[in-house]
Amino acid sequence: MTALPVILDVDTGVDDALAILFAVAHPGIDVLGISCVAGNASLERVVENTLRILDVAGSPDIPVAAGARRPLIEPARSASHVHGEGGLGTLRLPPSDRSALPISSIELMHTLISQSAVPVTLVALAPQTNLALLLRQYPDIADNIERIVFMGGSASVGNATAVAEFNVWHDPEAAAIVLDSGVPTFMYGLDVFNQVGVDENVASALLEHDSAVGRTVGSLLTNRVVLGSDKSSEYTGLIGDAGAVCALVDPDALRTELRPVRVELGGYGRGQTLVDLRRWPGEDVVHGLAEEWETVEIALDVDAPRYARLFLETLGLA
Ligand code: RIB
Ligand code: CA
Repeated sequence: MTALPVILDVDTGVDDALAILFAVAHPGIDVLGISCVAGNASLERVVENTLRILDVAGSPDIPVAAGARRPLIEPARSASHVHGEGGLGTLRLPPSDRSALPISSIELMHTLISQSAVPVTLVALAPQTNLALLLRQYPDIADNIERIVFMGGSASVGNATAVAEFNVWHDPEAAAIVLDSGVPTFMYGLDVFNQVGVDENVASALLEHDSAVGRTVGSLLTNRVVLGSDKSSEYTGLIGDAGAVCALVDPDALRTELRPVRVELGGYGRGQTLVDLRRWPGEDVVHGLAEEWETVEIALDVDAPRYARLFLETLGLA
């Protein structure tokens, strides 16, 4: 089986790190490059975390580059209450001898996609600022993009706000530009993201694993989300972004539908992905009020234990 050529766009953070480890380890994925963006942590932190995780993975020399330092309109707003100040929870990794390329990640993605003999799959695991800039600067690049698989959005609950998911909320304009690009898009949103986790006893045992990958995964999975001012915290064990990469190699574990989607840009709902799940047209259509929304393949359900098993087995941890 020929490995799928993939570019990852990350804001390495805890679950981006899990996704990178999985993508590098899976034989069906060929990571051409990694583009970094501010999100969970600052751009500098994201780049450094990415390089250090590639060391843990024992990865070949994959090109890494830094992209946008902040969203198109909003200031950068980190998710340190989830990922910690350094972006990798309590995990502390030694500095890497690797370095990011001295070019923008938009240039890196443009070069890698242009030079690829087959269309490239873009996997966006972060605010989509870099993808929006790429598509605005080089619109023709879309001709050699197979599809954009993004972790983001939700057809139901939010996390950054009651209705908006962090990646889309962080840069709603960028997400709207990506959906409007004409590139086929696949949304791995919170509807499935929030389901795929590893049991706490399994994650805790990994902390004592005899491999650096095992101990790193154990630390990342046991990272606890701080719940509020009393600093209480909760175990989630979610593989997070890694689930979106699992979707590349095991799509049959998902239930998906092609649905109209719009990114809300105003009001309290700013950053919400409005997903039209109706079974038949409503009065907006009947009275000619409906607007044209983009059609997106949405993951609405997942065989969660199957992805948790795939993740651990691919990393040699189950
Ligand atoms: O809402 C979850 C998403 O936001 C994940 O990609 C996480 O890493 C953060 O980027
Ligand atoms: Ca992420």
